[in-house]
Amino acid sequence: MKVIGINGSPRKNGNTAILIQTVFNELIKEGIETELIQLSENKVEGCKACRACHKNRNKQCIITDDFFNECLAKMIASDGIILGSPVYSAGVTSQMKALIDRASMVLAGNKGLLKHKVGASVIAARRGGLSVLLIPLTTFCTVKKCSL
Ligand SMILES: Cc1cc2nc3c(=O)[nH]c(=O)nc-3n(C[C@H](O)[C@H](O)[C@H](O)COP(=O)(O)O)c2cc1C
Repeated sequence: MKVIGINGSPRKNGNTAILIQTVFNELIKEGIETELIQLSENKVEGCKACRACHKNRNKQCIITDDFFNECLAKMIASDGIILGSPVYSAGVTSQMKALIDRASMVLAGNKGLLKHKVGASVIAARRGGLSVLLIPLTTFCTVKKCSL
């Protein structure tokens, strides 16, 4: 069994990474394999709303010169997905937003790819706004794509 954690912070070893690693430590104790994916090192562009993914239905985005398709393939191959982001101006980071937007479009055109996977989110903040992030992160992990 494998769980991936996707860190949407541009700070590779910052607070969000610590939170994901804290969850990983518990999973590792249970013998679960983990992999940390850093969006700081792996560029994901924003969605172009071309809807080619709906026409092609090949489980991929038509933008092929960034990390997105590799990241989505890792999500599809995993048993569980942790999305992590710091609060940036009362939202997720632009890196995490780009991933969620593009994954949501591809998944809408390729139904069931993340069905029965477990999803969870971790959020880092300095002052507040954590509950606002629960909407994009938890919605992606539970209501829209994975099932708990
Ligand atoms: C551009 C930017 C915007 C931020 N906006 C908020 C905010 O709206 N609310 C908040 O509590 N913290 C905000 N922060 C602080 C980060 O959420 C906080 O420092 C977090 O722990 C950083 O996590 P990281 O180390 O994983 O990057 C902001 C930080 C930056 C750089």
